[in-house]
Amino acid sequence: MQTIVVESKEQGAEKIVELVREELEAGSLNVLGLATGSTMEPVYEKMVASDLDFTSVTAFNLDEYVGIPATHKNSYAYYMNHLLFNEKPFKETHIENGMAENLEEECVRYETLLKENPLDIQLLGIGENGHIAFNEPGTSPESVTHVVELTESTIAVNSQYFTEDETMPVTALTMGISSIMQAKKLIVAAFGEKKRAALEKLFAGEVSTEWPVTYLLDHPNVVVITDLKL
Ligand code: PGA
Repeated sequence: MQTIVVESKEQGAEKIVELVREELEAGSLNVLGLATGSTMEPVYEKMVASDLDFTSVTAFNLDEYVGIPATHKNSYAYYMNHLLFNEKPFKETHIENGMAENLEEECVRYETLLKENPLDIQLLGIGENGHIAFNEPGTSPESVTHVVELTESTIAVNSQYFTEDETMPVTALTMGISSIMQAKKLIVAAFGEKKRAALEKLFAGEVSTEWPVTYLLDHPNVVVITDLKL
């Protein structure tokens, strides 16, 4: 595991874009896994401002809420369209359909697509409780794309994005740990004190189901980018 310590989230975002550029220019980036959340906002801002050409790249997102449409400002489809895809064309973009009538079938469809399009790079944030994507504490390392009930911690953190008259979904669809671990390279970003506990668990070097981020210890090509000095 390689760790790059940066001074700020902005500098971290620059570094992430640089790593993506390297693979793109080397011709080794055909499928890019993307993440949402506040960590990734400056990353997409910098991608949009860059001359990077993603027209030969297929994108897959990690997760999506169940029950809110792509037109809802808190859906991850909306987030991706507005922060990246509307400005930077990709060959194809994929995100789980949280409005699917049959959620189990939707998970199988998504996982099949992932198998057909192996991820070259997967960008990842970390939850304060150590989740990666919406793989909450207790998730099996064998998990593939699945339906998840969000934990109290995740609901408390993410409810800040929902106004009082909006109900935050408590169910989501997420790539599983195994789906994520298939990626050739993982770029993990964690900025700010709130991520310290999760990063400490990762750097402690022991895999624990209670801290899903520690599953990354079993991946051969992980880059961690953080402004925390541990
Ligand atoms: P954040 O979320 O980027 O908004 O901190 C990260 C995550 O929960 O995975």
